[in-house]
Amino acid sequence: MRLPMVDPLPRLLAAFGALATARLSLLPIVAEHAPLLFGVLADPALHAFTGGEPPASVEALRARFTHWERRRSPDGSELWFNWLVLEQAGGTAIGYVQTTVRNPSIADVAWVIGAPWQRQGYATEAAAAVVRWLEGLSVTHVRACIAPAHTASERVAERVGLSLTSAWEDGEQVWSRTAAERGDAAPSR
Ligand SMILES: CC(C)(COP(=O)(O)OP(=O)(O)OC[C@H]1O[C@@H](n2cnc3c(N)ncnc32)[C@H](O)[C@@H]1OP(=O)(O)O)[C@@H](O)C(=O)NCCC(=O)NCCS
Repeated sequence: MRLPMVDPLPRLLAAFGALATARLSLLPIVAEHAPLLFGVLADPALHAFTGGEPPASVEALRARFTHWERRRSPDGSELWFNWLVLEQAGGTAIGYVQTTVRNPSIADVAWVIGAPWQRQGYATEAAAAVVRWLEGLSVTHVRACIAPAHTASERVAERVGLSLTSAWEDGEQVWSRTAAERGDAAPSR
């Protein structure tokens, strides 16, 4: 028997909130977080593989976060969920994780961790929490678009259970996992 397709979007909007992992707190980003993340994101090295530039000012970052707080694209076709990543010990802001969800049920996930906190498994831990959140709310297809040879990001994708596909999007390789591929497998961290 075929199960009816569940539209996860209303559930995602209703469920969006803080997430916790062993070492991290993930908080929905609001404009007031701009001063906390400005220094972290001021590093041009963070844009080496993704393009773009550091925010020009705290005000520019505040404007970006205000835009993200709408949680919907202007045409309503996408939902945007962004979390500030905080180290629980000390409460320091170290980066952010985001997902864009499109109908029927495709979520693109991306992660940024400031240089002083990299290589400690933080991106993996934060991304795994978001992937679990999405899949727990019936999102059937989780993806990440990663520049070729961006080894750190590829490792994060692998560790949260995504696999490299043959697809490309805007010059980046598509990593993904569908509900059918997932079976009962859970992210590894
Ligand atoms: C990609 C990024 C989020 C990784 O953050 P992180 O917290 O260091 O990631 P993790 O520690 O969870 O793990 C990354 C893995 O890649 C490895 N790694 C980290 N930096 C690396 C580097 N420069 N070169 C090679 N491998 C690297 C780590 O050793 C780890 O592998 P392991 O678990 O097998 O030891 C971080 O480098 C970043 O913010 N980059 C800039 C933003 C960006 O490009 N985001 C990706 C958008 S899709």
